[in-house]
Amino acid sequence: MTSNKGARVLLSPSIIAADLSTMGDSVKKIDPSIIDLLHIDVMDGRFVPNLTIGPGYIKNLKTHTEIPLDIHLMIEKPGDSIKEYIDLNPWAITFHYESTRFSPRLLKVIRDSSIKAGLAVVPSTPVESVFDILPYMDMVLVMSVDPGFYGQPFMENSLSRIRRLRDFTKAEGLDVLIQVDGGINAENIAKVVSAGADVIVAGNSAFRGGDPNSSVKELKKLALL
Ligand code: DX5
Ligand code: ZN
Repeated sequence: MTSNKGARVLLSPSIIAADLSTMGDSVKKIDPSIIDLLHIDVMDGRFVPNLTIGPGYIKNLKTHTEIPLDIHLMIEKPGDSIKEYIDLNPWAITFHYESTRFSPRLLKVIRDSSIKAGLAVVPSTPVESVFDILPYMDMVLVMSVDPGFYGQPFMENSLSRIRRLRDFTKAEGLDVLIQVDGGINAENIAKVVSAGADVIVAGNSAFRGGDPNSSVKELKKLALL
């Protein structure tokens, strides 16, 4: 897949904003012709102050859906458990720049398994921190909230962070997707996309109304206005 360059945006609803106890059934109602990816937030209660799910849950969930998985690891020492996530053969595995000193090594392990390798930056990490290592990844995840919880308000300065990143990848001719995660809704999605986002995560705005298919359809319409 190539980056959308304004033509197409992928929507990745974050399932932690849904009822995880019934997700096996509800995921069957999620329409793959509308919903491109399922964003899976793995939190370990250490890297972030919240605890969610792990590879066992994701493995079971995968049996209920054809939609490719977009795994976002918010965990300490991601290298220790990377194999378990690679075995799930997701669309992408993204870990945090702040969670390891050796991002390029771990990105290579993911890429060598033909899975998209993503690196995430929290709002306090300048996006410029990853400029030197962009050739080693397929996707950068710009967090637009401090990670840990869904339903937080979008941080407006994320727009200039996305623009700086997009300007650099364009100037250098790098084919790296930009994913943006946190507080994206009907009011701000168009701004996020025009700043340069290729992949949009939506937790609250996808699941809050109870019908993710129609919410995401609407978000996609607004994304390309
Ligand atoms: C935050 C997670 C996000 C979150 C998005 O730590 O990484 O993926 O679930 O949810 P919203 O869109 O509600 O901010
Ligand atoms: Zn996430």
